[in-house]
Amino acid sequence: MTDKYNVIFILGGPGAGKGTQCNKIVKEFGFVHLSAGDLLRAERNEPDSEFGEEIAQHIKNGSIVPVAITCSLLKREMKRSKENDDKDFFLIDGFPRNNDNLDGWNSEMSGLVNLKSVLVFDCPKKVCVDRCLERGKTSGRTDDNKTSLEKRIQTFTDSTMPVIEYYRRENLVNEVSAERPEDEVFEDVKRIIQKIQSENNS
Ligand code: ADP
Ligand code: C5P
Ligand code: MG
Repeated sequence: MTDKYNVIFILGGPGAGKGTQCNKIVKEFGFVHLSAGDLLRAERNEPDSEFGEEIAQHIKNGSIVPVAITCSLLKREMKRSKENDDKDFFLIDGFPRNNDNLDGWNSEMSGLVNLKSVLVFDCPKKVCVDRCLERGKTSGRTDDNKTSLEKRIQTFTDSTMPVIEYYRRENLVNEVSAERPEDEVFEDVKRIIQKIQSENNS
């Protein structure tokens, strides 16, 4: 055993179902879910944040916030969960999204973390867009609209796919087909997590 943070990165296009599946994993396995997007939205909404406006622009444009900001939010939450709740297994959702995220994470966090897996939700672009447009009817998000979604999909293809390919070469990727109903997707997710857990305990 080590006292490092255990981490599973959760990646996939916008609307692929990352948050939905993370909620299920939390219920079943008790891990801590940290969504980079949720943390950035919360920071954007802080009246005193020096980064609020910068974050708001990136979110609307579907571009990626500089890693120093995102990584410090993630690190703060990981530290808090470990110190307050004695939790050390994290689902980090929507990160790393580009090479800047990856490099920043590796220099700041890699010595503190056991990266267990990169769980990738594979979903056709059209399904992703339709899900986000549907979510946009109630989400109140500034980026669940057609214009932002085109940019978000482009960012995923141009900037996030290379990160997934990097982790594939490291043999860390577990891919799940995410076009199916939620519970069917979760059956596969469960099997993958159980395997990771059994390796963790051996
Ligand atoms: P992400 O975090 O990857 O952007 P979400 O988990 O927020 O995606 O899901 C996007 C939208 O699609 C939500 O409205 C959610 O209820 C819906 N959704 C998630 N998974 C599925 C699924 N397997 N089938 C149909 N709709 C889904
Ligand atoms: O993951 P989610 O869809 O909630 O992300 C919403 C937006 O937050 C992204 O389109 C991007 O602008 C921003 N984000 C980011 N860096 C991350 C994760 C999210 O800049 N690692
Ligand atoms: Mg999400």
